[in-house]
Amino acid sequence: MIAWPPKAAPRIQPIGAERSAECAAIHAASFLHPWQEADFEQLFVGPGTVADGAIEEKEERLAGFIISRIAADEAEILTLAVAPNWRRRGVATQLLAPHLAALAVNRASSIFLEVEAENAAALALYANFGFEKVGERKSYYRAAGAEPKPALVMRRVLL
Ligand SMILES: CC(C)(COP(=O)(O)OP(=O)(O)OC[C@H]1O[C@@H](n2cnc3c(N)ncnc32)[C@H](O)[C@@H]1OP(=O)(O)O)[C@@H](O)C(=O)NCCC(=O)NCCS
Repeated sequence: MIAWPPKAAPRIQPIGAERSAECAAIHAASFLHPWQEADFEQLFVGPGTVADGAIEEKEERLAGFIISRIAADEAEILTLAVAPNWRRRGVATQLLAPHLAALAVNRASSIFLEVEAENAAALALYANFGFEKVGERKSYYRAAGAEPKPALVMRRVLL
């Protein structure tokens, strides 16, 4: 599916704490349990963090981001989100390719992530990148007044 109207593809680059407020805004538009700006600030300065952002060229705004953490030879994708007005334009795909390469350069041999079992968009995206289901956590995502939802644990072997 092609999103319309067309927009110039954002450029992908490593990001740091200076983008915390924008990450928090996109996260809040993407998840039921938003992370605060201070959460992102802490994450960016933590050990083993690798973060990439998609920057739209016109106003230098963040269109999406991905943040992982490496410990020993394993990496975990902690969060990935694209601003609603940028979805279905290939931004997550553009983010993931160089991000996985950066994790490999930083000696991660396998990458894990957790994703809500009903998140069809994310599941299709991760399948495109060779992630496979290796486990399931029942009642992982909890929202007030709603049934707890299971999460899938997915892995991609890099090396
Ligand atoms: C999941 C998410 C990151 C995808 O970002 P995106 O930039 O729209 O993804 P892309 O345009 O690169 O799409 C890549 C592929 O993912 C799949 N996909 C993306 N959105 C989809 C949707 N709404 N429904 C079904 N498949 C979808 C498709 O296979 C798509 O390929 P195609 O466009 O050739 O069909 C975005 O929808 C988002 O931020 N969602 C909320 C946060 C979230 O769920 N994050 C991941 C949790 S771990």
